[in-house]
Amino acid sequence: MSIKTARAEGVAEVLIDYEACIACGLCARVCKGAPLYMENGKVQIDQSCYFGCIACGQCVAVCPQHCITVTGRDFTLDDVLQMPTREERATYAQLQSLMLGRRSVRDFKDKPVVREYIDQIVSAAATAPMGLPPSDVQILIFDGKDKVAALSNDLLDWMQSIQWIVSPVMRAIMRPFVGKETGEVFDTFLAPALDAFLKKRAENIDWLTYSAPLAMYFYTSAYADPVDPLIVATYAMLAAESLGLGSCMLGTPAYCFKYSKKLRRKYGMPNVSQQGILVIFGHPAVTYRRALRRRLGGVQFY
Ligand SMILES: Cc1cc2nc3c(=O)[nH]c(=O)nc-3n(C[C@H](O)[C@H](O)[C@H](O)COP(=O)(O)O)c2cc1C
Repeated sequence: MSIKTARAEGVAEVLIDYEACIACGLCARVCKGAPLYMENGKVQIDQSCYFGCIACGQCVAVCPQHCITVTGRDFTLDDVLQMPTREERATYAQLQSLMLGRRSVRDFKDKPVVREYIDQIVSAAATAPMGLPPSDVQILIFDGKDKVAALSNDLLDWMQSIQWIVSPVMRAIMRPFVGKETGEVFDTFLAPALDAFLKKRAENIDWLTYSAPLAMYFYTSAYADPVDPLIVATYAMLAAESLGLGSCMLGTPAYCFKYSKKLRRKYGMPNVSQQGILVIFGHPAVTYRRALRRRLGGVQFY
């Protein structure tokens, strides 16, 4: 049975030019048996096997003869590109220096991000892997300081409307139901953060989206893998870094969208979706002069 997602159903069509095929078997090898397999020295297609062709494109990408075409599920012939050479690709050292040089930037110059950069960020982000092709990740772009500020205001209005939920009395009532850790997150982060966001707004300071000139909200449908938007957002951040822009992920907006139907409706998001993430971008107003070593919560060989 074919896999249904928010914008794909049915199997993709696979065509093999048998005249050109040398029966090397690489396509079947990367396809992992659905729907391509080798039999009698020839590649065979069985769309009834498992999910049929989901248009992951692996067979097209590996074929040395360029004799496979896949179309459907949002995959077209135009999606097959020239492979960058080894020399063109970033080395580990280059990638590591890009990542080490990145900091979460919360101070931006009063300068817009040009459309060309936005397009480049989106194009790089779209190369991210996804749980199931085609990607269901959507990016809602707030291009311009005014648009980001308006979004910030909407989010803060909603936060103000639910602030009573994190009041000391409500937290005491909820504690037995939400568990120790969530209770502590409420006490030490959520309640003081909401308080700070709203106090800063009263002082005309945007403590939520930091007066950024560009923001992108990454979200996805309930069909997709829940981490898809976070992977795409991470790719976008690294792309921005490579363009000399600063960026910062913001976790709070996703909760506003998750719990506010009114916000989802206003911004055209589906009622049921996975965890999203807002990323702000802009030209950094400060220069960082040191890289920082980070340690993860744990790394164990099991
Ligand atoms: C999922 C996620 C959510 C975040 N949410 C916020 C946020 O709401 N506000 C903020 O100022 N920074 C936020 N950050 C940025 C982190 O605070 C930042 O990554 C951390 O302080 C480490 O700094 P660095 O990115 O410069 O290494 C978030 C980062 C991630 C990955």
